[in-house]
Amino acid sequence: MSKSIGLFGFGEVARGFYQALQSSQLDASIKKICIKDAAKPRDLDQSFFTSDPTVLLNDPDIDIIVELTDDTEISYEVVKQALTNGKATISANKKMIAENISEVSHWHQTYSAPFIYEASVGGSIPILQNLEQFFKQQEIHEIRAILNGSTNYILTQMQKNGLSLDEALILAQEKGFAESDPEQDISGRDALYKIIILSYHAFGETIGNLDQLRVESITNMEDHFYDLAKAQGLKIKSIATAKRKNGKLSVKVQPELISQDDELFGIEHENNAIVIDGNLSGKQVYTGKGAGSLPTGAAVLNDLSLVLSGFRYGARKSIGGLKKSA
Ligand SMILES: NC(=O)c1ccc[n+]([C@@H]2O[C@H](COP(=O)([O-])OP(=O)(O)OC[C@H]3O[C@@H](n4cnc5c(N)ncnc54)[C@H](OP(=O)(O)O)[C@@H]3O)[C@@H](O)[C@H]2O)c1
Repeated sequence: MSKSIGLFGFGEVARGFYQALQSSQLDASIKKICIKDAAKPRDLDQSFFTSDPTVLLNDPDIDIIVELTDDTEISYEVVKQALTNGKATISANKKMIAENISEVSHWHQTYSAPFIYEASVGGSIPILQNLEQFFKQQEIHEIRAILNGSTNYILTQMQKNGLSLDEALILAQEKGFAESDPEQDISGRDALYKIIILSYHAFGETIGNLDQLRVESITNMEDHFYDLAKAQGLKIKSIATAKRKNGKLSVKVQPELISQDDELFGIEHENNAIVIDGNLSGKQVYTGKGAGSLPTGAAVLNDLSLVLSGFRYGARKSIGGLKKSA
């Protein structure tokens, strides 16, 4: 039987998801959309919209909630209530998920309805699904990644075209890659949210206090470092890392000098890339568009497909008996 969706938000990602769903063959359709501003003109018939969340959350005919608002508090309330009401739930809100990762872990174990959130990390790159399926039987040594498209675009413009940080930031904003308040991007905070979510799915560990982690902004780099790096054939990239060291998980985001033999050296402009080092597969590199309406909408569509197939994230257990690579 066709499944009915309640959609929260109708911004960049939600409209990309709506478009992707129209051209898909999935047996599901959007019944109602909850937005904030009821007076805003929309491309769809007004009868689709409401600004009352309970209309969606309490409708017994809505099977799946897709939460794509930009409001962290609303996101938390909607996801929690939807799961409590037994509705499969999808979200793209990395800040909400990362800041509540311990509770999210609890949700996976206690609610019968699944909670899936591929679009919260790496835009179009299907990385959580790979960690949950392909890498499930492996021990992961390390994740290194470029997880913020705006920062990578700015660094590319500075190092390829000689722009100053301010000039590159303005260009990123004009191109729509950076937020009008880009603090979360360039401070490294946005990448931190994503590496925390990746860490949970790779190592099965949650991090309670985000403020204790090392997060360095690209603004901490002196301008002449870029010239020095270039002269030596190196690049500066904002790298998010998660690895287990002496049995302890360490997570950080910082600008790093990287050389040509680094898997992340050639990742330019607004692209994202994630290197997963598994004990059996060795290193694998996933790269693609880290943001944008359709790429992120495509990730949400895949989450919907996973929900329809009965998929849910499972608790990662430590892998016993597997031989570690050297
Ligand atoms: N943009 C990307 O490329 C990207 C990539 C990955 C993840 N994400 C994540 O995806 C989510 C959505 O991002 P976006 O770029 O699509 O944001 P956006 O374009 O700013 O749209 C946000 C939407 O949320 C709605 N909204 C805000 N408060 C609400 C409330 N209280 N009740 C109901 N709806 C509310 C807004 O309603 P109105 O239309 O009435 O204002 C708007 O439709 C965020 O969590 C973001 O971090 C975005």
